[in-house]
Amino acid sequence: MSQDPRDQQRLGGAVPPGITFRRPTEADYPTIIRVVDDWWGGRNLSKLLPRLWLQHFTGTSWLAEDSEGRLAGFLIGFLSPDHPDTAYAHMVATNPNLRRRGLGATLYDHFIADARAAGRSQVRAITWPGNRASLAFHRSIGFELEGLPGSQNLYGTPAQPGYDFDREDRAVMRRRI
Ligand SMILES: CC(C)(COP(=O)(O)OP(=O)(O)OC[C@H]1O[C@@H](n2cnc3c(N)ncnc32)[C@H](O)[C@@H]1OP(=O)(O)O)[C@@H](O)C(=O)NCCC(=O)NCCS
Repeated sequence: MSQDPRDQQRLGGAVPPGITFRRPTEADYPTIIRVVDDWWGGRNLSKLLPRLWLQHFTGTSWLAEDSEGRLAGFLIGFLSPDHPDTAYAHMVATNPNLRRRGLGATLYDHFIADARAAGRSQVRAITWPGNRASLAFHRSIGFELEGLPGSQNLYGTPAQPGYDFDREDRAVMRRRI
């Protein structure tokens, strides 16, 4: 069991009533991909989630749904094949109508439990430095920004300019688990 006080605080804490968690399957792909751009506030991010993520990474990912089976949130992640101490969270999102109720943090709880069980000692994730909600969320659940060489202050946050595709800036985050 986690010794982290942030996790302890959430144990028994509320996620919205009726929410359940399970592994996604490939059959969930159309449902997930349909909401991605909308849930990210209209940014065109569905390109970051081709179907392969729901074919090869479901065993380390989580999906939340409401009592009527509607998508409430998801976290797509994996255990790094190259770095045996690391789990990597690729994308996490919750339904905009269910935000600030502990759902995102609970998706991470599930993912981190998997990572610990697999002997991983840290989780890494990246985010666009202009995504204030994502930065605040990750900070609140214990992530720290990594000030890597080449970091610049972008949108008020240490971040890597042109980190992806030579044009997309990213803040790199890490949490010890
Ligand atoms: C980021 C995101 C996943 C958070 O999901 P959530 O279900 O609202 O998260 P939680 O309710 O578990 O939030 C836990 C804590 O994070 C912080 N937090 C979350 N959203 C925040 C926001 N918009 N502004 C400030 N702090 C925020 C708060 O401290 C919050 O605790 P509190 O509500 O008791 O104050 C959600 O806003 C989202 O889906 N955003 C769009 C997708 C995205 O940007 N994903 C992250 C990059 S991959």
